[in-house]
Amino acid sequence: MAASDQIRLLFIEDVPQVAQYVRGLLASQTQIKLIDVISDGGKAVLQVPEIRPDVIIIDALLQGRVKADQVVSRLREIGGTIPVIMLTVPQQPVEPDPEHGIHGVLSMPFSGYDIITRVNQVVKDQEAGAGSARSHAVAVFAPKGGVGRTTIAFNLSVAAARQGHRTVLVDGSIQFADLRALLRVPADAPSILDLPTDRVVESDLAEVLWRDPSGIDILLAPPRIEMAEMVTTRDVEKVLSLLRRLYDAVIIDMSVALDELNLVLLDRVETILEIVTYDSTTIHNTIALADTFRAIGYPASKVQYLVNRADANGGIAPADLEKALGRVPEHVVRSEGAVVVAANNQGVPFVLSDPGAGVSGDIDRVAASLLGVGRAVAVGAR
Ligand SMILES: Nc1ncnc2c1ncn2[C@@H]1O[C@H](COP(=O)(O)OP(=O)(O)O)[C@@H](O)[C@H]1O
Ligand SMILES: [Mg+2]
Repeated sequence: MAASDQIRLLFIEDVPQVAQYVRGLLASQTQIKLIDVISDGGKAVLQVPEIRPDVIIIDALLQGRVKADQVVSRLREIGGTIPVIMLTVPQQPVEPDPEHGIHGVLSMPFSGYDIITRVNQVVKDQEAGAGSARSHAVAVFAPKGGVGRTTIAFNLSVAAARQGHRTVLVDGSIQFADLRALLRVPADAPSILDLPTDRVVESDLAEVLWRDPSGIDILLAPPRIEMAEMVTTRDVEKVLSLLRRLYDAVIIDMSVALDELNLVLLDRVETILEIVTYDSTTIHNTIALADTFRAIGYPASKVQYLVNRADANGGIAPADLEKALGRVPEHVVRSEGAVVVAANNQGVPFVLSDPGAGVSGDIDRVAASLLGVGRAVAVGAR
């Protein structure tokens, strides 16, 4: 996986000595890359959509036609989510005011440590705060393949949308792109790789999402296995934080591996919906996975178990499964081959094609229990 974790900084500064000083401070590290210094506030505003920095530092005392506070308010007008740090002097104190586009303040004199800390902090706040208040992200994960992750992630997303949540489904099976196969999307349908690598904004996302006839938006994985290499963890983090700002529910169809990318995703979701079935390998791997999650420090409440095909226990007693899970599973979905396979073969969700089926009712219950009542149904209820 390529590493492009550098934070791209744009500095709006008209005093050459200060620009030079900051260049010097950042020269000996690689975490933050100073991509440009622009001395004219008006020009800077015009160039931001092109340059797409991750963070902007602006001198509060900027001279010229467009002053610093005007730059800040114009940046907000163009709908940017880029955090801004105001550089000032003690004689002219500025308070951080995220509501008005000032996410951090750096007062002279400052050291390399000060600038790096402040930049990291505003970028982190921005990513964490981006919509965290209202969106709920769910990773549909399993300790073993073939247990129904893709089927459940897709139907759960459609059920969530029907229950009034603005829902996006992310194909997190980056290598095999399971959703492409399930939905039979054309090979040239855009994927996460069609997003710009430096900075993703809302309008880019709108062009890349697949609008499925089932009423949900889907972020597809790349169309070819080897392209997975090109998806970086930083891209995925950024995309996720943007999706969380725009959607109430973000549901991710995960691959089985516990690799770097999956850990980034698992870290960032509220809920890991772990699909288990009645078979001995799954049970064995479920126990191993629970140990790993504990070691990582995930609270037990972060994981919710869903027993898929719960009525087909193949001789394993429910009590044995509960013992392995360490608790009664939160959700159960019955096996209903005739309904599920027929819908999957047509690439449609069974919750729509056969809403009266038992298995559809099960998925509706999972969605309601996980996400609560959607705001399109009960405005103001959340
Ligand atoms: N509740 C269910 N009842 C019947 N068949 C199911 C059910 N859940 C999944 N399946 C079938 O199991 C197979 C594997 O499901 P899939 O969603 O591709 O699993 P995964 O993504 O975990 O590999 C598919 O053929 C699907 O139709
Ligand atoms: Mg799958």
